Amino acid sequence: MPEMRAWPRRPRLVAGNWKMHKTAREGEALARELVELLRARPYTEIAVCPAFPALEAVSRALAGTGIHLGAQNLHPEPQGAFTGEVSGPMLAAVGCRFVVVGHSERRHGMGEDDATVARKLRAAQRDGLVPIVCVGETLPEREGGRTAEVLVRQVQAAYEGLDAGATAATVIAYEPVWAIGTGKVATPEQARESHQVVRATLERVVGAGAGERQTILYGGSVNAGNAAELFAENDLDGALVGGASLDATAFWKIVTAAAAGQRPGR
Ligand code: PGA
Repeated sequence: MPEMRAWPRRPRLVAGNWKMHKTAREGEALARELVELLRARPYTEIAVCPAFPALEAVSRALAGTGIHLGAQNLHPEPQGAFTGEVSGPMLAAVGCRFVVVGHSERRHGMGEDDATVARKLRAAQRDGLVPIVCVGETLPEREGGRTAEVLVRQVQAAYEGLDAGATAATVIAYEPVWAIGTGKVATPEQARESHQVVRATLERVVGAGAGERQTILYGGSVNAGNAAELFAENDLDGALVGGASLDATAFWKIVTAAAAGQRPGR
């Protein structure tokens, strides 16, 4: 991940996914609250992903602060007759560094398949963005003992053909669908097991140490109360936070928990 600071371990990143919340003015106010809290200089990378109409105002509020801006989706084409869509170059131009790709609310709510997610990952990289690639099983898949199979399929479809350098310039978010917005957080053991499946798959598909190097976030009902326990798990390289990222104080507690034990690179 070239633009991130060097840590003695994989970088920790806490990214807030604001989903379909916050107007431009509300988003700007939240961003300003976060910038105030940033005076404490936590040892972790931070990103927020507002809805499209708030990107510009939030970008201005975050300029020069070190908090990264991300978007929640992009179209695979850089431009064209795609009514209602937004492209990577547009996101880069407004100051985005990250873009969420393949979130479960798009896979399951908007019919995005593995091939589309793979195209979006590549489009993001073509357009100079770091994709946060979401993978995760549904409850019936977990209960049917198919978690590993689903993760292998999703990771393989997204990363097949990428080299180790391109892979390292992405972030993966493991987000079990049953944990998103439900208050039912995965246990650290469940998260670790799934992260290890993702790492083993990357090692097989990409090779060259890609699995070990990969930054993998956990997402799904992360909040100020459970963050410390999750981050005690060494295999978690950060979190993708939905609901709790809409409140500056709650988000900041998660950032602080992620930063505990981190030291800047030597
Ligand atoms: P949640 O959402 O934290 O509200 O569960 C996480 C996500 O969808 O990224």
